[in-house]
Amino acid sequence: MRPTLRSIRPVSYAMTKRRCTVVSLVSGLLIAGLIVAGSAAFPGAPHTLLIAEARAAEAVPAATTATTTGDKADTRPDIVKRGEYLARAGDCVACHTAPRGKLFAGGLAMETPFGTLYSPNITPDAQYGIGTWSEDAFFKMMRTGRTPDGTLLYPAMPIAQYTKVTREDSNAIFAYLKSVTPVREPNHKHTLRFPFNQRKLLYGWRTLYFREGEFQPDPTKSVEWNRGAYLVDGLGHCTMCHTKINMLGGSSQSEQFAGGLIPVQNWYAPSLTSDKDGGLGDWSIKDIVDLLQAGISDRGAVYGPMGEVTYHSLQYMTEEDVKAMAVYLKTLPDKSGRKSGPSAPTNTNVFALGEKIYADKCALCHGANGEGQLQHYPPLARNQSIEMDSAVNPIRIVLNGGFPPGTTRNPEPYGMPPFGQELNDTDAAAVVTYIRTAWGNHGQPVTSREVNELRKAPLH
Ligand code: HEC
Ligand code: HEC
Ligand code: HEC
Repeated sequence: MRPTLRSIRPVSYAMTKRRCTVVSLVSGLLIAGLIVAGSAAFPGAPHTLLIAEARAAEAVPAATTATTTGDKADTRPDIVKRGEYLARAGDCVACHTAPRGKLFAGGLAMETPFGTLYSPNITPDAQYGIGTWSEDAFFKMMRTGRTPDGTLLYPAMPIAQYTKVTREDSNAIFAYLKSVTPVREPNHKHTLRFPFNQRKLLYGWRTLYFREGEFQPDPTKSVEWNRGAYLVDGLGHCTMCHTKINMLGGSSQSEQFAGGLIPVQNWYAPSLTSDKDGGLGDWSIKDIVDLLQAGISDRGAVYGPMGEVTYHSLQYMTEEDVKAMAVYLKTLPDKSGRKSGPSAPTNTNVFALGEKIYADKCALCHGANGEGQLQHYPPLARNQSIEMDSAVNPIRIVLNGGFPPGTTRNPEPYGMPPFGQELNDTDAAAVVTYIRTAWGNHGQPVTSREVNELRKAPLH
C-alpha cells in the first residue's frame, strides 16, 4: 500500500511555520550584544575597544533626516524586478511580514529570553515605513547597520551579512521596496527588558562580530564560485544559522559553517563544510541544488527552519545562482577533523525494540533497510542529518513529524505524521537509536531523557 498522507497546502506552511525561525536567530544573536554590552565587567581589551568604537561612532555625524532629494529610488521596471529577486535572495519577507500580515508591514514578534522584538514596517509609507528614506540612507543601513538617524540595529536584522551587499544590489532592493503597496501600520515597540533595551550595548557586539565592508571577490577563483560566495555569505545570510552561536551570541570566524544548535528553537543546523561526518563532503552538486531549490533530494528533505528558507527564498532563485551557491559550499574546508567511525555499540535490547518499532511504523515510507522512496520519502541509511553528533533533528522529527515546503519543483510535498503521542520516551529513544546506528549509520545512541526534554521545544 502506498502511503497517501499529503502535506497541507504551501500557504498553510507559511502561516504555521514562519514564526519560529526568527525566534531562534534573534535570541542567539541578542545574547551577543547584551552580554558583551554589560562588558564593563568584561576583562581587558574588549572594553577598551568598546569605548573606542563608541567614540568613533559619535564622531560620525548622523544623518538626522533622510530625504529623497537627489537620490530617489530607481523606477525602471527591470531594476525593480531585479530588486524583487534580490529581496528573495535575502529572504526579507521571512522576518518583515507577520503571519496573515500585509507584505513587508513588519510586526512579526520575535521572542527572546530578554523580551520581544518586532520587525519594523519597511513598506514605502511615509509615516510608518521607509517612505522618506533616500537610496543613500538605505544603502548606509545595509552597509553599516545604522538607520538614517544613526540608531544601531540589533543583529536580529542580518547586518553582519548584508554589509557585503554591493551598492548596485542595494539600490535595486530599495527600488523594489519603494514599489510595493505602502501600509499605514505603526511599528510595535520592542519590549526588551533592561538592560537589553539599551542600544548602546550593541557597540560591544559590533566590536566583536561586525566587520563592515563589501564582498571582495577572490581573483583566484571562478566567476561562478565568487557569485556563490557573495550569495551565501551576503544576502543568503546562511551563517546566521549554520554556525555555532557562542555564549556571546556571535560566532568566531573559524567556526563559520561548522554547524550549530539554534538556541530556544532547538533545531540543529548542520555543518555545510566538507566534513564527511555531518557536512556536505559526500554530496554532489545536484543533490545540494535539489535540496535547496526543490526542498527534496536523493540525500534527504528540508524541514524545520530550513524548510522556510527554501519556501520563502531559495525556490525562487535561478538554477545558475543555486548552482553557484552549491559550488561555493563544496569548497568550504573541513576543520573539524572528525572521521566517520564504526557504528556505536548499542544496547542490544534497545536496538531490538527500535527495530521492531521501525518495522511497524516507519518502514512503510522509509523502506525496510532505510533506503527511502526517492525523492518523496527520504532515505535514512547513510543520511548525515540522522547520524550527526547532535540528535536533536531526528528526535524532533519523530516527535513532531514534518513536511517539506511546497515549491515550484515539488508542489505537492508528502509529509510525515507526528509520533509524539504514540511513542513514549523509551520507545521514541529506541527507534531514533535504531535509525542512527542501523544499516552502517555512524550515530550515537540517544536517551529517553533527551527525548523528554525535546517534547517541550516549540513546535516549529
Ligand atoms: C532574520 C530576520 C530579518 C531579515 C531576514 C531581514 N530583516 Fe530587516 N530587520 C529585522 C529586525 C528585527 C529589524 C529591527 C532591528 C532593530 O530594531 O534594531 C530590522 C530592521 C530593518 C530596517 C530598518 C527599519 C527602520 O524603520 O528602522 C530595514 C530598512 C530593513 N530591516 C530592511 C530589510 C531588508 C531589505 C531585508 C532583506 C534584504 C531584511 N530587512 C531582512 C529583521 C530581519
Ligand atoms: C533559519 C535558520 C537557517 C538558515 C537562515 C539557513 N539554514 Fe540551512 N538548515 C537549517 C536547519 C535547522 C537545517 C537542518 C534541517 C534540514 O536538514 O532541513 C538546515 C539544513 C541545511 C542543509 C542540509 C544539510 C544536511 O547535511 O542535511 C543545507 C545544504 C543547507 N541547510 C544550506 C543552507 C544554505 C545554503 C543557506 C543560505 C541560503 C541556509 N542553509 C540557511 C537552518 C537554516
Ligand atoms: C507516511 C510516511 C512516513 C512515515 C510513516 C514515517 N516517515 Fe519519516 N519522513 C517522511 C517524510 C515525507 C519526511 C520528510 C519530512 C520533511 O522534510 O519535513 C520524513 C523525514 C524523516 C526524517 C528526517 C530525514 C532527513 O532527511 O533528515 C527522519 C529521521 C524520519 N523521517 C524518521 C522516521 C521514523 C523513525 C519513523 C517511524 C517512527 C518515520 N520517519 C515514519 C515520511 C514518513
